[in-house]
Amino acid sequence: MLRSSYNMVSFYAGVKRFTFGPTTGPFLIHTRGKVTTELSCAYGYFSEDGREYVITTPLTPRPWGNVISNGDYSLMVSQTGSGYSWRGNAGQNRITRAFQDLVKDNWGKYFYIRDLSTGAFWSATYKPVMHACDEYRVTHGIGYSRFIQRVHGILSELTVFVAAGDPLEVYQLRLTNTSTSPRELDVTSYAEWLLGFAPDEHREFHKLFIDTWADEARMAVYARKYLWGFPDDKGRYNNIDWPYTAFMATSAPLKSYDCDKESFIGLYGREDSPRAMAESHLARRSGRFGDAIAALQVGVSLAPGETRTIVFTLGAAENGREDPNALIERYTDVQASDRALQEVHELWARFIDPERVETPDPALNHMTNCWLKYQAISCRLWGKSAFYQVSAGYGFRDQLQDCQIFLVGEPAYARKQILLHAAQQFVEGDVLHWWFSIRGGGPRTNCSDDLLWLPFVLDSYLKETADYTILDERVPYLNGPAEPLYDHCKRALERAFSRFSPRGIPLMGDHDWNDGLNAIGTLLKGESFWVAEFLYMILGSFAPLAERRGDVRFAHRCRTVRDCLKDALNRHGWDGEWYLQATTDDGLPVGSKENDEGQIFLMPNIWAVISGAGEPDKARQAMESVTRYLLKDYGPLLNFPAFTRPRPDIGYVTRYAPGLRENGGVYTHAATWAVWAYTLAGQPELAYEVYRRICPPNRSRDIDAYKAEPYVTPGNVDGPASEYYGRGGWTWYTGSAQWLHRVATHWILGIRPQEDGLLIDPSIPAHWSGFRVRRTFRNAVYHIEVANPDHVNRGVRSIAVDGRPLEGQVVPAFCDGQSHTVRVVMG
Ligand code: GLC
Repeated sequence: MLRSSYNMVSFYAGVKRFTFGPTTGPFLIHTRGKVTTELSCAYGYFSEDGREYVITTPLTPRPWGNVISNGDYSLMVSQTGSGYSWRGNAGQNRITRAFQDLVKDNWGKYFYIRDLSTGAFWSATYKPVMHACDEYRVTHGIGYSRFIQRVHGILSELTVFVAAGDPLEVYQLRLTNTSTSPRELDVTSYAEWLLGFAPDEHREFHKLFIDTWADEARMAVYARKYLWGFPDDKGRYNNIDWPYTAFMATSAPLKSYDCDKESFIGLYGREDSPRAMAESHLARRSGRFGDAIAALQVGVSLAPGETRTIVFTLGAAENGREDPNALIERYTDVQASDRALQEVHELWARFIDPERVETPDPALNHMTNCWLKYQAISCRLWGKSAFYQVSAGYGFRDQLQDCQIFLVGEPAYARKQILLHAAQQFVEGDVLHWWFSIRGGGPRTNCSDDLLWLPFVLDSYLKETADYTILDERVPYLNGPAEPLYDHCKRALERAFSRFSPRGIPLMGDHDWNDGLNAIGTLLKGESFWVAEFLYMILGSFAPLAERRGDVRFAHRCRTVRDCLKDALNRHGWDGEWYLQATTDDGLPVGSKENDEGQIFLMPNIWAVISGAGEPDKARQAMESVTRYLLKDYGPLLNFPAFTRPRPDIGYVTRYAPGLRENGGVYTHAATWAVWAYTLAGQPELAYEVYRRICPPNRSRDIDAYKAEPYVTPGNVDGPASEYYGRGGWTWYTGSAQWLHRVATHWILGIRPQEDGLLIDPSIPAHWSGFRVRRTFRNAVYHIEVANPDHVNRGVRSIAVDGRPLEGQVVPAFCDGQSHTVRVVMG
């Protein structure tokens, strides 16, 4: 038996300890190809093609993670190797246990590697052992993460991914003996089961329902739980099985296993030095009476220079529908896992590759080509959970906006998402604010904008695809029989029409896009000037749609309401230098010079321009005010000055610490819309400047202030009122990813689908000599090359399509499955 006292002391004695931290220390950064140096930082860099982000130390300023999903099964993993797994819903169907802790980041599925001759052990990732090592490198890629380290003469390479089409995650652990003597090692996997609703704070209760067992011949352990938090078909709670069988399996001959946390960790023990590492074998305990874990131990003998790969799988098979053993057999093998990883690359190629931009701005290129699509799809639409937020549900407006990311590559996915959201509507036109992805169910509210996103996103879908058949898709209401999608949109608009103040401004209701304004209008008296603009814009596209369907009366109604909205907005919403955000139920203005806090809000001012509802002089002045009062070092603030005192008549936004999120922070989702507004306001340099300030790789320069991952968007960046001005947070799970992609492609590069083709209308910084875009559009591929010989910001002098001059700026929709070249000269 090995002695536990043996472990760290002898281990540290033999290994050179490297200095973690912002300097790279004595370990080497191995680079593949060129690195985009201006986007690298003390903690990492983008690979040359931008498709990977390589982290060179475990001690990043916050967990820098990856959210990996196949749309059904998901996991997240940070650079320390911590994270957890879920299927369908991170809250209701968590597979492994984890509690949110961004400081410790110490819940995970881990692999211990042990040298049997010395007893020294470490882990394949920095956590849980937090060992010294000569080199540590984490590559987060599209659908996978890889951890490489060199410890004690053993090079380990752990690759984790989720199978493209099955409910499991795969770990390939490659071990190479880089020393000159033969090595006898063992590898021990470890994960703690959760199996259902998270967090299971009443752990002793939940423990009563869990069962674990092993099948040594199959080199696997399993777990089930005879309880799920949902009611049964008679409405009785605590009376149904969690309908899955969880498993962990390995490809290498099994030495021993354990399903009991107490025997593995040891009473009062810790994951960094578990009792199991002091024993020669795992305890082989399983059944109904312990704290359920999965641990498998395999032996690995390595001659000098020899490499061996061991595969581990972990997943959850649905009882009666999926066979856990079939999944284990299919994936728990070295060649099979290589093929499975190839399938992951192929899956993501469908979403990432159909559009590619090449501009002089590498941050814009990497984010647009790769990471924003990945973030929006893998995290927002599929995984729906991340380090800062376990969402687990669909937000009505959230994933509806996000699905625009599918439009270029896989518009059928956007179609499906639109129809899914339409099914969360009531016949009265209102919708669930959010709902859960497994069993549905969510709050019915008086939110004023949710329902309007349906016609808004429909318009984007139609412009991209011209697929008008979607309007006839019959979708049921939550409380009524199916109707065509067109009628769903109409009911949403009619509901909005029924909620105006006496002076013609839409009511705020429970809140508008800004969820934190949740007390302004609950009595259905307060008004939202932003909703006025948003509705104005939507009516502009819905009126022609109604006409097209022969619904002339409704088209007329839309136009009449639209005119009234514009008039009311400019009459009652103008504060003198900018537009008001709202009025409260008591009739007080919000976002006015009369206020001492929250004097000016971003949304009503940029949307006055985006929607076209602002009268030209007022819109111009509103944008000047945005530039003067809101645009700061890291982008435009959502409001200014931040609230420092709770305002019970406004809502929880005033209760946040000042400078955070919707209270005087840069709220990235809305900040992206400022880019759009500045292009429309004829200020392309400022538009690009805002883009540059919010585009995360650009924060590599002051990464210790920024702290967050430079390869995904943050939900927010702290504003000047925060002690951490400039700090990014709430990364991954944010609607800003899709929008940052869209404002770059549609509004800076200016390539916008229209009913009759692709409009080319760039709005770029003058120093650019041009750019290229390849994208699919209605079953044809467009190779667009834009030259800017005179270094202008806007204006198109000529366009040639397949060598022939084009009249105007709209390239036809060829729909012919062919490639077409489009040469554009600006000037
Ligand atoms: C959150 C919500 C989103 C809302 C935003 C602004 O991100 O999910 O729907 O629009 O906050 O409050």
